[in-house]
Amino acid sequence: MIPLHFTTLLLVGLAQLDIVAAQKGCGKAQESAVKNMRFRISYTSSTMDTIAVSAWSGGGGPRRAIPSNAASGPFSGREYGGGDRHTIYGTRAYGSGYPYGADNANSVAGRPFPYGVWPISWGPSYLGGGEYFSASSSNNGGDLDLDFLRPGGPVGVVKLAPDTSHWNGVDANEVYEMIGDRESLMFMMADLVDWCHAQPQLIRRFNPSAASNNTQPQPENVLQYYRASSFAIAYSGYNNTFALGSSNPTTSQSFADSSPLPSQIANSAFLQCINSTIANALPIADSVDTKEKGITSGAIIGIVFGSFVGSLLIYLIGTLAWASIAEWRENRAESIPMVDQETIERIVQEVIQEENDQHGKKEDENEDTASSTHKKAENTVYV
Ligand SMILES: *[C@@H]1O[C@H](CO)[C@@H](O)[C@H](O)[C@H]1NC(C)=O
Ligand SMILES: *[C@@H]1O[C@H](CO)[C@@H](O)[C@H](O)[C@H]1NC(C)=O
Ligand SMILES: *[C@@H]1O[C@H](CO)[C@@H](O)[C@H](O)[C@H]1NC(C)=O
Repeated sequence: MIPLHFTTLLLVGLAQLDIVAAQKGCGKAQESAVKNMRFRISYTSSTMDTIAVSAWSGGGGPRRAIPSNAASGPFSGREYGGGDRHTIYGTRAYGSGYPYGADNANSVAGRPFPYGVWPISWGPSYLGGGEYFSASSSNNGGDLDLDFLRPGGPVGVVKLAPDTSHWNGVDANEVYEMIGDRESLMFMMADLVDWCHAQPQLIRRFNPSAASNNTQPQPENVLQYYRASSFAIAYSGYNNTFALGSSNPTTSQSFADSSPLPSQIANSAFLQCINSTIANALPIADSVDTKEKGITSGAIIGIVFGSFVGSLLIYLIGTLAWASIAEWRENRAESIPMVDQETIERIVQEVIQEENDQHGKKEDENEDTASSTHKKAENTVYV
């Protein structure tokens, strides 16, 4: 039993190592995909103070409050920031994924912005999301176009189709949709092309009310929310009846309340890759202490490699008993054929070495995030 799973581990592991190895050579596409990205948002337009929303970063830190003055826009007084990357996953319920501020289970209205950005809106009448959607107040005599003002840009949607030349056995029709603000969406598209062999696609405008045309995802299609419901993936073959208005949904549903995933995607490796890569890379508001800096390519590779090992463990846990895992962990050094063990260790060491070198140079500026990426890089060795 163990050797069988081990072969799976190794095969998938080696496939993934190809990607890591390619990064070391760094083709143009890879380089642009591992590039750090950040955009800035301002909740205090009176002083034009901005906060950075960064890919890969750890988030966290103290919460801030949007000041109460006219130039602050419609959400003055609300708290924002402080959301940590570890709490980035929501569930299939709109309104999930809030590390704080989800006090009203029937509505996302009035909630804070733990990751700096606003929740997706499914239109004026769905679970309180209308306030992030409509022209609810006026500004200099004109309507306030909230989608236009949204941190990260207007909400868009893009298809995630597998590149089947890399995903052997994955059905070409296993196509997901990714929904979120424009900046985050364009970055994640580029990133998923590289890390999960998704086909490159242009993003399009999100228009949840065009339901009858069936070209836009609907709340009942959502498989997973992230970042306080500000980002999501959906699948048109999934019909979560608990997300439909008729069954009186609330924002606090758990996975247990949701309809199960269709069997054809329930154990999909493509979906797992998308899911964990979004969780690791999606831009979130930096901690207020984080200095202006980038995360090194080596560290990013370390994070992704680490998350890959992590998701593989989840897969293994799903198929093996805990006892077998423990046994495997004890015996793994002996079980891995020597050459592969060496390859794995060499690449991991290179990643860590590169990160250490970079870290040494930028020690002072880097403290906050570097220590968290170090933690993740270590995971690649010990997990
Ligand atoms: C469906 O699409 C057509 C053509 O793009 C458009 O004219 C129509 O308004 C759309 N229907 C809805 C309900 O949005
Ligand atoms: C995404 O990953 C999280 C954490 O492992 C898990 O709880 C969730 O069920 C996954 N979502 C999907 C759609 O697989
Ligand atoms: C989804 O489920 C609801 C409730 O069972 C049903 O009314 C609706 O037609 C279903 N939609 C699709 C696309 O299957």
